[in-house]
Amino acid sequence: MTAKYDVSVLFVCLGNICRSPIGERVLAHRLEQEGLSDRVRVDSAGTGAWHQGEPPDPRSAEVAMQHGITLGGRARSVSGQDFHEFDYILAMDRSNLQDLRHLESESDGSAVLTLFREFDPRQDGDLDVPDPYYGGP
Ligand code: 4NP
Repeated sequence: MTAKYDVSVLFVCLGNICRSPIGERVLAHRLEQEGLSDRVRVDSAGTGAWHQGEPPDPRSAEVAMQHGITLGGRARSVSGQDFHEFDYILAMDRSNLQDLRHLESESDGSAVLTLFREFDPRQDGDLDVPDPYYGGP
């Protein structure tokens, strides 16, 4: 973890262009509202590298915009180093979690790895945020 921050959170999905950029910016937005932006580091990454360097998917950007949130950043791949740099790594679905467990096993970092929706107060069976890429908005 970077010393400047008290806590650091990394959101991870497959492509880092749909789900995790929204997670990142929604948390950043809430932190801004609470005056906590300088205490918590937030970032996002993908388990796959196909979209590396690309901006968020326009469908995600549109949905975020409807909620007053501007997405930003460029897609990047998650790495073993992230397990050293972040306190929490939150996977969007079980497939992401499985891929991250492999990475975790090769890293001696200390990040807490779990599903994002473990924090959802309205859990309803499986805790996946479904992969939206081949769906509509
Ligand atoms: P994300 O969505 O994991 O929420 O960013 C996806 C983006 C791209 C692909 C799959 C999911 N893809 O297969 O390229």
